[in-house]
Amino acid sequence: MVVRYSLEEQNEMLRELTKPFGLPEPLQKLNEMHEYEGVPFSGFVPAKSLEIIRDWETRDDDIFITTYPKSGTHWMWEIALLILAKGRPDDIDRTKMLGTGVEFLYPPEMTTPSHQLFAELESPRVMCTHLPWKFLPKQLTEGNKGRIIYVMRNPKDTLASTSRFLRAPAGQVQDQSTWKFFFNSFLSGAMSHGSWFDHVHTYWTHREQENVFFTSYEKLKLDFQSVARPLSKFLLGEELDEDSLRRLEENASMKGMKKSYDEIEKKRPNGHMITKAMGRSSFIQKGVIGSWKNFFSVAENELFDEVCQEKMADWEFKPVYEG
Ligand code: A3P
Repeated sequence: MVVRYSLEEQNEMLRELTKPFGLPEPLQKLNEMHEYEGVPFSGFVPAKSLEIIRDWETRDDDIFITTYPKSGTHWMWEIALLILAKGRPDDIDRTKMLGTGVEFLYPPEMTTPSHQLFAELESPRVMCTHLPWKFLPKQLTEGNKGRIIYVMRNPKDTLASTSRFLRAPAGQVQDQSTWKFFFNSFLSGAMSHGSWFDHVHTYWTHREQENVFFTSYEKLKLDFQSVARPLSKFLLGEELDEDSLRRLEENASMKGMKKSYDEIEKKRPNGHMITKAMGRSSFIQKGVIGSWKNFFSVAENELFDEVCQEKMADWEFKPVYEG
């Protein structure tokens, strides 16, 4: 049976879980989950920001990378930036890469809402967000002002990645109760930004909208160019040439991205705040399909499949779990 924790229980467990990290004061907000219009959000996402972002002025050349957390956001962010730079990382203006989602408070102080900083950026802006569809700027969803790239990832790897990510700062070995906490939170829709099922399915229903490009982590892993070609057309109006596409694939690979992220850390003040969540947990981890198998017991896998079967009964697409 899947357990649904109350917000109080969740915050209590998060406090315990993050204790070994010795989080400084501003990052303690991680343990202040709250609900907004029925959707749970981390304390890093203020209700006021959600309200403001909905009425945000968007621009025709805005690009929003939208994902459920741990679905390959930063990978797609780098791909979009590389497409605009014809595959050349050195031509990317990293000063415009703020390294956080529009709805979050800006690290490390966690006092300024990031949307304020994004609002000041020159065009074209490439931004990321984990917001469910209904919280996106109305000008974007209803007015087609700006473009949306959505990346879905199979839910088992998404959960495994979340768990890997949150334990990474302290390099801890995760105990069973912590894993169970993530497992139950994920399946019951109690994680920040709500249910994975609702998130993915809502974006999927909008996949045919003119300004939406819907793809998956697995498609990128299994056949990169089958995504890169139409995506470059979506962003530039025409496909990149073969040389640029080849450069793009090389520089967006795990190896290529690690090199670029190392340079960001060396060259940009506070670069590690861009390459690592809270400056601690790298956005580049294993980068494979199927690492969930190292996390799930046989019984958990069966329960997970049961919930998926029920939640996805009428879905016309199915996640890919093997690579
Ligand atoms: P894993 O934890 O499974 O390794 P997000 O950016 O949404 O936080 O997603 C992080 C996930 O994307 C991590 O997954 C990370 O390793 C993976 N990732 C980052 N860069 C990647 C790349 N170039 N190729 C494949 N996966 C990548």
